[in-house]
Amino acid sequence: MATVETNSELGQQVVADAKEYVLHSWSVQDAVNPVAVAGGEGRYFWDYDGKRYLDFASQLINLSLGHQHPKLVAAIQEQAAKVCTIGPPMATEPRSTLARLLADVTPGDLAMSFFTNGGAEANENAIKLARWYTGRHKVIARYRSYHGATAGAITLTGDPRRWPAEPGMPGVVRMFDPYTYRCPAGHPDPCPVCTGAPHLEEILQYEGADTVAAVILETVTGTNGVIPPPDGHLQSIREVCDRHGIVLILDEVMAGFGRTGKWFACENWDVVPDILTVAKGINSGYVPLGAMVVNEKLRDWLRDKPFAGGLTYSGHPLACASGVASIGIFREEGIVENAAEQGRYLADALRALQESHPSIGDVRGLGLFWGLELVRSRETREPLVPFNAAGADAKPVAHLTKAALDAGLYLFVHWNVIMIAPPLNITREELDEGLAILDDALAVADEYT
Ligand SMILES: Cc1ncc(COP(=O)(O)O)c(C=O)c1O
Repeated sequence: MATVETNSELGQQVVADAKEYVLHSWSVQDAVNPVAVAGGEGRYFWDYDGKRYLDFASQLINLSLGHQHPKLVAAIQEQAAKVCTIGPPMATEPRSTLARLLADVTPGDLAMSFFTNGGAEANENAIKLARWYTGRHKVIARYRSYHGATAGAITLTGDPRRWPAEPGMPGVVRMFDPYTYRCPAGHPDPCPVCTGAPHLEEILQYEGADTVAAVILETVTGTNGVIPPPDGHLQSIREVCDRHGIVLILDEVMAGFGRTGKWFACENWDVVPDILTVAKGINSGYVPLGAMVVNEKLRDWLRDKPFAGGLTYSGHPLACASGVASIGIFREEGIVENAAEQGRYLADALRALQESHPSIGDVRGLGLFWGLELVRSRETREPLVPFNAAGADAKPVAHLTKAALDAGLYLFVHWNVIMIAPPLNITREELDEGLAILDDALAVADEYT
């Protein structure tokens, strides 16, 4: 472990400057009180007082290989020494190699990549391409979704982060999620929403299937509750899209690259999208990077047309070099296999926690991607904090996260769901360390039941 030097004075200055000069995402600025991070290694980071934190959220579910992976750092350094940046019209080794590797590791006939700076831009380009390809304009997206903060992606987003951006991009139609714990239509199992096809078919009936360019889904819903689809759901959506000539876009910005114990989440249900969007785990966020990966049909269609998309930093060499190195590390170190194996252990451990904590209503997920849904009552399923809770309403959750942080565990909680998504190279001992702190912190939530 790297030497942890303390410098409390600098830490205080970093926080003071952050509060005065940095406009923080999705936050009431006066309520922001960030941890000043002095360094990190593996699954841990530390502040300027030398206090260490185990990261059970991989920062924003992106730091799949943990901090300062030596091979990832070396790949960036080596590329920086060769050529730091080059324009998109040129061919450059890291970009070419990463595109080839993506065609290799992604499922089915996904074949060609457009590189972006992150997830939102990948989704923007996916929508634009689907509309152009089909000559149709509507896009069906789900309520419990987050697709990014740019104009189109935030309109696709179903959660309240969309509201300040409304009316947004025209043509977005909303569908419900397969949220079996709280079926949005109040249906018993098997419900037409949760089974996929009947709900989508009904929407298409009202919208006119031949006006719909694309369906965009998070393969496993992330921030909006970690909701894996029930078996059959994704397959039936694929079938409906095929029948109506609709482009299926799977957003695996969060769920891709090993997070669910498979290289890509859609492999859990043997579904291949027409367009896959990725970011985050593609290179653990060491340099901003995302990609839209299109299938052979779209690739062939694009051959003789001018693609109407571009970014100055599309396929940035430093980002792509880290992407190439990351895929190498995944293969050499069995990262996906570790996610699957530790994920099985984590699943059992989280279910065991549910036995002793009345505040845990539901435990769901796969691989190293889990959600603990917190409730005031298991009988009524009343959420521990209301939908879109902020400020005083969010107190129970704020108490829990603070208790965990004070004890050295960083948790990411969205409304009433704790996301458990540690780096994919986490060890059994580290999982146990985090689970023990989580166990204590959940006692704080139990007090509100
Ligand atoms: C599923 C999903 N899609 C898209 C995005 C947006 O990615 P970015 O913040 O890199 O633009 C996110 C970010 O959290 C996400 O979770």
